[in-house]
Amino acid sequence: MKIAIIGQGYVGLTLTAFASEHFDVVGFDSNGTLIHQLNSGISHIEGINSSLISERLSTGRYRATSKPSDIKDCNVVVIAVPTPLTKDRKPDLKFIDSACQTIGQNVTNPVLVINESTSFPGTLRNYIKPTIEKYSANRINHLYAISPERVDPGRTDFNQKNTPRLFSGLTPEASLMTRDFYSKFCDTLVEVSSPEVAEAAKLFENTFRQVNIALVNEFAQIAHSLGISVYETLDAANTKPYGFMKFTPSAGVGGHCIPVDPTYLAAVAEEHGAPATFIRRANEVNLEMSKYIVRRVVEDNGGNLQGKSVLVVGVAYKPNVADVRETAAELVIKHLRDHGAVVSWHDDVVGGWKGESSAPLQGADITVVVTKHDSVDEKKVLASAPYVFDTTGKVKSAKGL
Ligand SMILES: NC(=O)c1ccc[n+]([C@@H]2O[C@H](COP(=O)([O-])OP(=O)(O)OC[C@H]3O[C@@H](n4cnc5c(N)ncnc54)[C@H](O)[C@@H]3O)[C@@H](O)[C@H]2O)c1
Repeated sequence: MKIAIIGQGYVGLTLTAFASEHFDVVGFDSNGTLIHQLNSGISHIEGINSSLISERLSTGRYRATSKPSDIKDCNVVVIAVPTPLTKDRKPDLKFIDSACQTIGQNVTNPVLVINESTSFPGTLRNYIKPTIEKYSANRINHLYAISPERVDPGRTDFNQKNTPRLFSGLTPEASLMTRDFYSKFCDTLVEVSSPEVAEAAKLFENTFRQVNIALVNEFAQIAHSLGISVYETLDAANTKPYGFMKFTPSAGVGGHCIPVDPTYLAAVAEEHGAPATFIRRANEVNLEMSKYIVRRVVEDNGGNLQGKSVLVVGVAYKPNVADVRETAAELVIKHLRDHGAVVSWHDDVVGGWKGESSAPLQGADITVVVTKHDSVDEKKVLASAPYVFDTTGKVKSAKGL
C-alpha cells in the first residue's frame, strides 16, 4: 500500500516515522518551508530523529511534498491537520475542509480515507465524507474511517507501537482495511462500534485530563489558604491504592489538545441541548490560574511590580518540548506586564517566540518558573533572582503553589 499523510506536524510526522517502516509514504503539507526542511532530512518534532527522516528519504520510502497531485496514486490517505478554535472559541474545521478539498480534487480512484485529527462526534460521517464528495468532479466511493491520534510528544514510554489505537470505519470494509494498515506498526487495535464512539472517546480522554487539572488547580488555592502544602497533601492522598489518580497543579494547561478538545465536546453537547457547565468551568479555572499566580507574586513583593525585572522560566507548554501552542506562559507574562513588570523569559528549548529571544538565566528581581525542562539547572534558577516563585513543584526551596 502507498500512503499519503496530509499534515506533517506532530501527529503526521510521527505517523510517517512508523508507517514508512512498512509502506511508501508521501507526506503532504501546505507549508513549503517545512517540506523543504523535511526533504533535506531535518525533523522538527521531538522524538523523531533527523537521521530517521534521512534514512527513509534515501531508501525512497518517504517523500515530502507540497504538490497536491502527488497524493493521487495512494491507497490510503490519512488526515492529520490542526483542529483549532475560532476567535469566539468554536470548533474551526477550516484545515479539515482544505484537506478534504485536496483529496476531493486529486484522488480519482477509490481509497481509504482515515481521519486522525481530533474533532467532535459526527465529523467523519457528516463533514469529511460529504466535503470530499463536494470537491470531487465525479462521485467516488471512498472508504472512510476514524482513528484518533493519542501521541504525547516528548514521551518515551508510550508511542505509536505500544499505545492501543481506537478505530472504526463507516463500513465493515473500511474497518477491515484500517485494521490491516495499523496492525503493521501498532500492537493493540481496539475497534469500536461507530466512528462517533471513537471521536467521542478521544474528546472524553482529554476532557478527563482538563477537568482533573482544573480540580487540582483549585485545590492548590484551597491548600494555600489553609496553610498546608498542596504537594504533601496530594502525595498523602496518592497512597490510596484505588479510586485516586494524582494530577499536579500548574500555571494552566497548554498544547494543542487539553485547552481545545473539551471545547469541541462542549460545543457539540450544547448543540444537542445537553449542558456542558462542568467542562466550561474547568476551562475557566485553568485560564484563571495565571492570574492567581501573578496575584501571589504581587502580594509577596510589596503589592507592586512596577519597573521590576521579572524572568519567566519556561515558555513551552510542557517540559522538554519546544511547543508553545496555548502555553500558560503567555497569560502569566501578560498579567505580569499589566502590573508594570519588565518581563523577559528564559527557555533555551524554545529559543525564539513572538519576536523575542530566550534571555540569560540570571540577574532578575523576580523569577517565575512556569515550565521546567530537565536541562534547566535548579541551582541556577534559585540564583537567578532574590525571589523565585515556582509553579511546577520542581524547584525545591522556592516559593510556590
Ligand atoms: N500534538 C499532539 O500532541 C496531538 C495529539 C493527539 C491528537 N492531535 C490532533 O491531531 C491533529 C493535528 O495536530 P498536530 O499537533 O499534528 O498539528 P501541527 O500543527 O503540528 O501539524 C499540522 C500540520 O498540518 C499542516 N496543514 C494544515 N492544513 C493543511 C492542509 N490543508 N493540507 C496539508 N497540510 C496542512 C500544517 O502546515 C502543519 O504542518 C489535531 O486535530 C490535533 O488536535 C494532536
